Amino acid sequence: MRKVYLVGFMGCGKSAIGRRLSYYLKMPYYDMDQEIVRREKMTIPEIFEKYGEEHFRQLETDFLRNFRDEFCIISTGGGVAMNPQNRRIMRQTGLVLFLDATFSDIWKRIHKDKNRPIVQRSTKQELEDLFYKRRKFYREATHITIRTENRSLKQIVEYTAFQIKRLKGE
Ligand code: S3P
Repeated sequence: MRKVYLVGFMGCGKSAIGRRLSYYLKMPYYDMDQEIVRREKMTIPEIFEKYGEEHFRQLETDFLRNFRDEFCIISTGGGVAMNPQNRRIMRQTGLVLFLDATFSDIWKRIHKDKNRPIVQRSTKQELEDLFYKRRKFYREATHITIRTENRSLKQIVEYTAFQIKRLKGE
């Protein structure tokens, strides 16, 4: 197991937890969205607008296929685990952790975000439906589910680090 993948819906805390975990476990950290933005020299809304969502999904799969073989933490975009091929790559190359937050916590964090095209084009009800639709795919992808409700970032990071060490057999 070389990589630790964080999966879950937009706003579940993948980036915030990934960054802190990286510090805590002294492992390099990569944010998939940021890596794609850096490579494409375009923001996510620009990629969606100019080339469409399908193209963005292909960039996500390309990233997973080609990212260097390194022991690291990767926070994925909220749509990554929907694709069976992506789920297979993640499970073959690492440990997959699902950050399971409630929709009400997620909504508070994402509803004003201009940098998330899916949020921009959806109503609250549509996002909630998408949240429940996607949950089963996160569960299918994951080795372990981490519930975040009523836990501080520090508690989540410590618990996640404990699980990573346990599953690595340390
Ligand atoms: C998406 C989630 C975003 C980003 C893109 C699409 C999705 O990542 O990849 O806007 O389909 O859920 P975050 O989960 O980091 O917000």
